[in-house]
Amino acid sequence: MTQAKSDALVVFGATGDLAFKKIFPSLQSMVRRGNLNVPVIGVAKSGWNLDQFRQRAKDSIQQHSQFDPQEFDKVSKLLRYVDGDYSDPATFTALIKELHDAHSPTFYLAIPPALFGLVVEQLGKAKCAGNARVVIEKPFGRDLESAQALNKILLGTFDEHSIFRIDHYLGKSAVRNLRYFRFANTFLEPIWNRRYVESVQITMAENFGVEGRGAFYEEAGVIRDVIENHMFQVLTNLAMEPPIADDAESVRDERAKVLRAIRPLDPHQVVRGQFRGYRNEKGVAKNSRVETFAAVKLQIHSWRWDGVPFFIRAGKMLPVTCTEVFVELRRPPDIYSDAPLIPNHVRFRLSPEIAIALGTMVMDPGDEMVGRPQELLATHQPQADEMDAYERLLGEAMRGDQSLFAREDYVEEAWRIVDPVLEKSTAVYEYEPGIWGPEEVNRLIAPPGGWHDPVVDSRRPAVAKS
Ligand code: BG6
Repeated sequence: MTQAKSDALVVFGATGDLAFKKIFPSLQSMVRRGNLNVPVIGVAKSGWNLDQFRQRAKDSIQQHSQFDPQEFDKVSKLLRYVDGDYSDPATFTALIKELHDAHSPTFYLAIPPALFGLVVEQLGKAKCAGNARVVIEKPFGRDLESAQALNKILLGTFDEHSIFRIDHYLGKSAVRNLRYFRFANTFLEPIWNRRYVESVQITMAENFGVEGRGAFYEEAGVIRDVIENHMFQVLTNLAMEPPIADDAESVRDERAKVLRAIRPLDPHQVVRGQFRGYRNEKGVAKNSRVETFAAVKLQIHSWRWDGVPFFIRAGKMLPVTCTEVFVELRRPPDIYSDAPLIPNHVRFRLSPEIAIALGTMVMDPGDEMVGRPQELLATHQPQADEMDAYERLLGEAMRGDQSLFAREDYVEEAWRIVDPVLEKSTAVYEYEPGIWGPEEVNRLIAPPGGWHDPVVDSRRPAVAKS
């Protein structure tokens, strides 16, 4: 294990998709902020040389970021390239040569999970792992058993403090802000529990389909793709106890505790949907039963949350692209009988912009004791200048701070919860693209008072009901 700042970044799979879309653009931003001045060594088996690799980096930044010739020049000078097969020890000998006197490299495995074991083992054999860190991307396995097997492989060569499991939701400002808002204020704490909270809804909606990733999606489905990881990170930030300090282990202890208090889902707590047209996507089986939409209902069996239902729904081809949390408080006694009161709420908009709003009732002008709902907006930030989650996470991994990464126990707890519903034996209801999932969801998994459908593209953050 090492606490030192990494003195090299090694990207396996450097000619692949993830590096192209996310890693090169992050490198340029890191250079711009003065956060990167160590060698970046790409490893792949593409038969390339360094010039081709540099060209790839340039194309990537031009397509996925704002290309800046001066900044790119600095990135380009940091780049090195090793071409070779991961099963060939010579590849690792060449890597050691490129590492020169770097002692604490970060190894980023931007490769298919099936190759993790091979590369990790080769790093161990080549004696590269001792002082190094390893970064892997979700999915961390595809169920509890495979996640445990993956952890075993990683822990065979690296210790837990050197393993950085990326769930990019943890790197998002909006998700970090959830935790900040809860624990940087006192007014929320007295009401943030089963006495005041009626229900919690988390919606992750995307108004596009699988975008050419049909083959990947067939192996995943929305529960594996985003609920078990991204949505659980949102859930745990919302529901965790205050950590005793803001260090990585204190925060991660509290996140893991939330998951430990959730029982494995049973099929009655899940509704799955598939948008019409999914089966025509490239790589998708004509009779596919993979879900592109799911709604789940969870209970956290803790002193704070017992009896409060937590609802998560996520899906492709929904009406908008937006992630939002809606915490509904208990209804006040209805003493103004002429006009029923609407319960208060706390709303966290996580994307496309960041907003935090408190839903209240205010009295209308005039003599009557009647009012209307009004949101008090605590913050509203367009995300234009937001540091990209990958850039943040890459920087944190190279600094050795694990706060924003998933720990082994957390990953296994998350799989334990969804494991019983991963099999595609439950009904999959078809829905038309552009609606809020299958109609059945409103009958089978609906929060008290119904789902709150996020409204996007409105200056006034509105709240609509389905
Ligand atoms: C990825 C999923 O992890 O997250 C995608 O594989 C999903 O299916 C994406 O679209 C959403 O990320 P973001 O940052 O755009 O909300």
